[in-house]
Amino acid sequence: MRRIAFINEKGGTCKTTLCVNVAARLAARGQRVLVVDLDTQGHAGKSLGVDVRDLSPTVHDWLLDYAIGFDDVVRPTGVENLDLVPANKDLAAFPVAVAPAPDRADRLDQRLATIRPGRYDVVLLDAPPSLSLVTENVLRAARELVVPVALTYLALDGCAEIVRSLERLRAERGRAPELLLVVPTLYRKTQLADEILARLQERFPETLSRTVLGWSVKVDEAQSHGRTIFEYAPRSSGAAALAALGDEILARAPALRSAAGA
Ligand SMILES: Nc1ncnc2c1ncn2[C@@H]1O[C@H](COP(=O)(O)OP(=O)(O)OP(=O)(O)O)[C@@H](O)[C@H]1O
Ligand SMILES: [Mg+2]
Repeated sequence: MRRIAFINEKGGTCKTTLCVNVAARLAARGQRVLVVDLDTQGHAGKSLGVDVRDLSPTVHDWLLDYAIGFDDVVRPTGVENLDLVPANKDLAAFPVAVAPAPDRADRLDQRLATIRPGRYDVVLLDAPPSLSLVTENVLRAARELVVPVALTYLALDGCAEIVRSLERLRAERGRAPELLLVVPTLYRKTQLADEILARLQERFPETLSRTVLGWSVKVDEAQSHGRTIFEYAPRSSGAAALAALGDEILARAPALRSAAGA
């Protein structure tokens, strides 16, 4: 079971958009997919049409109380092959509630390990926009990272921060997730965007995605209607880009890469 986190400490870089739509693309290609929302905003659930406001139990309860099983928190979505562990504002209490526990940073890793092997092909983790105990849980639970970078001023800062966190984790624990893809997002043809893109190409020659997600009002609208882009505007440029990104992520599955000698 692959475990892929969509992460960047900077807010609004399209983490949730990529997570939810890549999930839908992988599900359409026959993968059994689980999305775990780790953000108090609950946007992954909202983007999949789930009203998360008063839901209980949520990911918060699952991380905190080991009497709550996976089947108690997982929910089907309107998309075939795609399940969700939802989050809402309850998750804000997590760092304080779990503070006394010595394993507080490993909770997500441990909970994911309780899912029956073979139930899912891939778990996608939608990380929050901050460096917090929740993010630390995400970094320890994930095996692969996708880092969306909005092509705007200061975009590279969040990216550098993630690379530093990975180095720290590797030094502390001897292992860290692999940087799978850096994905340029919110591209609009401007000199600044092209300069940032060129710097990303220099900095991440192996891991920069071929797909660039352009700015598209349809993507924004789809999220606000609680639909994936493939349901809301299947023939849009955003749908084409997000499908291509899903395909890149599928093609970079560790087993396929090692078979190709990479
Ligand atoms: N390609 C796009 N074109 C235009 N708007 C987009 C695009 N992708 C995402 N958006 C919009 O940008 C906003 C931020 O996107 P998203 O929620 O995916 O970012 P995020 O990184 O998850 O944010 P946060 O850090 O708050 O979790 C949302 O309103 C979303 O609908
Ligand atoms: Mg988000």
